[in-house]
Amino acid sequence: MKILVTGGAGYIGSHTCVELLESQHDVVVVDNFSNSSPKAVERVEALTNKKITCYEVDICDVELAQVFEEHQFDAVIHFAGLKAVGESTKEPLSYYQHNVQGSLNLLRMMKKHGVKTLIFSSSATVYGQAKIVPIDETSQLQPQSPYGQTKLMVEQMCKDLSAAQDDFTAVMLRYFNPVGAHQSGMIGENPTGIPNNLLPFISQVAVGTHPELRVFGNDYNTVDGTGVRDYIHVVDLAQGHVKALEALHQSNQFTTLNLGSGKGYSVLEVVDAFSKLNDVKVPTIFVPRRQGDVEICYAACDKANQLLDWETKLSLSDMVIDTWRWQTNNPQGY
Ligand code: NAD
Ligand code: UD1
Repeated sequence: MKILVTGGAGYIGSHTCVELLESQHDVVVVDNFSNSSPKAVERVEALTNKKITCYEVDICDVELAQVFEEHQFDAVIHFAGLKAVGESTKEPLSYYQHNVQGSLNLLRMMKKHGVKTLIFSSSATVYGQAKIVPIDETSQLQPQSPYGQTKLMVEQMCKDLSAAQDDFTAVMLRYFNPVGAHQSGMIGENPTGIPNNLLPFISQVAVGTHPELRVFGNDYNTVDGTGVRDYIHVVDLAQGHVKALEALHQSNQFTTLNLGSGKGYSVLEVVDAFSKLNDVKVPTIFVPRRQGDVEICYAACDKANQLLDWETKLSLSDMVIDTWRWQTNNPQGY
């Protein structure tokens, strides 16, 4: 199939391009490089020994039309957007613009050009502070931030379009905590500034950029008092996209699917695995809970397992080893 990948130079997008190319699909990337580098696309080409047609285009702009005029796509995988929860509370309009208006523009182009399959990057953040774990797709949707609201709004747009157009397929993939990097060490997460997320921060402590990891809260009702999350290796996640595309692209319906490992690990378990397996020191201090954090969050992934014949293959060990390989091979990022 010929697939348009929006945000294909980003962290999850670049890994998904590798898996698509290795599964013999053709890939066209659209990215404005606001949070990525064209080098990521070059690395994907080098890794797979395949060509990618890449456009520097903002999905909010009229230039997107040209991309649809030059190619007839079988499907779109839509990663492009802004993703920082904290930033979204300070710059909400940017989030509504890039995430909602950009997606609306994309959906209009798809409709105009008869492209009938969309795979969308949603997030577990749409569940907000879920009271019951594991979280399944029927859990209440109550996003706590503008970022989460934008994800839910795009889901709603897709649901409404799918109801209005019988032959439209919309698959909403709700990711839990994507971490790790490609085993080659050639592509990975390239955060700008001080990272908020756990694994990128641990890596920066291990290389000495920060003196210690601040562990947000050690008084949760968990195995060791620290927060528990469902970490998923980005390569497993990327393969989930290919499986979703291949299994559902002619399903002609709206589907929501959790993509996680279904297992929860505490902050200290992740730190311990990272330091032991990579033989590095990761000093920690305990600080009060971070506002907005939940105690325990992990996915029920039975629906994705069954519908896609997909399950995660990579372990916490793979996640921490691959993160560190990417970091040490690319100390300055791309
Ligand atoms: P990323 O920032 O690495 O990738 C997003 C890409 O989109 C970047 O290359 C960026 O330059 C591009 N982009 C942003 N706005 C654009 C626009 N208006 N037009 C064209 N390109 C644009 O982020 P990621 O971690 O790869 O996330 C990909 C998607 O998955 C996002 O939609 C994000 O909200 C979602 N998601 C990510 C996580 C996570 O933890 N990484 C979790 C859940 C959901
Ligand atoms: C956050 C986002 C979520 C997003 C996800 C992946 C919020 C409220 N949620 O989830 O929407 O999908 O990132 O991008 O921001 N931790 C520390 N010290 C640190 C960093 C993190 O102790 O310096 C702890 C956190 O308290 C948490 C765990 O590590 O228990 C994971 O945190 P993080 O990587 O930020 O992800 P989430 O908060 O789960």
